Amino acid sequence: MIALNVNGKSLSLDVPDDTPLLWALRDAARLTGTKFGCGIAQCGACTVHVDGQPVRSCVLPVAAAQGKTITTIEAVGNDRIGQAVQEAWRNLDVVQCGYCQSGQIMSAAALLKAKPAPTDADIDAAMSGNVCRCATYVRIRAAIHEAAAALA
Ligand code: FES
Ligand code: FES
Repeated sequence: MIALNVNGKSLSLDVPDDTPLLWALRDAARLTGTKFGCGIAQCGACTVHVDGQPVRSCVLPVAAAQGKTITTIEAVGNDRIGQAVQEAWRNLDVVQCGYCQSGQIMSAAALLKAKPAPTDADIDAAMSGNVCRCATYVRIRAAIHEAAAALA
């Protein structure tokens, strides 16, 4: 059994230690907002927060997440920063097909926690690992600036 703290709840999941956190979340915890894209830490679709840091859950063994605080897209809006990011995303109609967007929002929220007033360069550096096949990058950048302004 693996004990996880996910979105403020204690979960006990019957999965092998080396299961990627992504599949523990999706298949065992039934939190399907976190997406699978590449499985090799190259696309960012699976990004969640582990102790506040953006992490590619497709390559993190679930055993390594024990004792840490995990936040997924289902709960990122429970704090002020995540809420501002989601609001800006809605205001600017960032989403196209939507597949990458859970990961984009998780990376954006982590960026704004670390840097409340990011420059374009900060945004590009923080978001460069999140791929969007619909190329919503310009709206993502604008939404991060809007969220930063709303939080200032
Ligand atoms: S699915 Fe994890 S980075 Fe692509
Ligand atoms: S919105 Fe379609 S992949 Fe990003």
